[in-house]
Amino acid sequence: SARHDLAGRRVVVTAGGTREPLDPVRFLGNRSSGKQGVAIAEAARARGAEVTLIAANLEVGEPVGCGVRAVSTTAELQEAVVDEARRADVVVMAAAVADFRPAAVSESKIKKQPGDAGLTLELVRNPDILAELAAAPHDALLVGFAAETEPDDERIVELGAAKLAAKGADLLVVNRVGWNEGFARDENRVVILERGGAVVDRRSGSKMSVADGILDVVARHLGGDPL
Ligand code: C5P
Repeated sequence: SARHDLAGRRVVVTAGGTREPLDPVRFLGNRSSGKQGVAIAEAARARGAEVTLIAANLEVGEPVGCGVRAVSTTAELQEAVVDEARRADVVVMAAAVADFRPAAVSESKIKKQPGDAGLTLELVRNPDILAELAAAPHDALLVGFAAETEPDDERIVELGAAKLAAKGADLLVVNRVGWNEGFARDENRVVILERGGAVVDRRSGSKMSVADGILDVVARHLGGDPL
């Protein structure tokens, strides 16, 4: 991109998916590859921003020219993003964060016993990092993501608007997963909502072009322009 509309801006992006350990060798995780978050970090860098990527278990290479903080669990991601958000103009929460984690982490490998028909795992809620960032005093523009499997477009927008209001973020990028799109793909299709639930933009195409579409909206917000 020839535009340098994010010059001097500090942008923090979370990417990938968190993993919650069960024991020394196992975890609960998700299919997020980190591709969309990495594309946003790269696009922001190309537009002149100083970028920090908080990278949770990426399946893709790290972006060039960005600071990278590697994390794995939700607690680690939260610590890193809360720290980085203090100096950020924009925080983009593209990572898929585990909603629950095992209530206890076993010190040794969990073993099956002869005759065990099953195993019940007890999970506890994780904090909602984005909601907590939004609820605390902050200066950064907060951009959330939502992965929805709902096929109906109007329903996607409704769910997104409710999620945006509940989390208190400034923008929400609603991402359709399970439409042969979403996790681990190179292409994406998103609806971008602003506070109040209005649709600001819809973008589909490569994750890089979707990243630029999201950053167009971010740049307009930072510039104080009406949307
Ligand atoms: O509630 P849901 O998981 O759909 O919300 C997704 C958005 O909230 C993403 O931006 C994700 O990074 C963020 N999130 C979070 N902490 C959680 C769960 C999700 O910050 N525990």
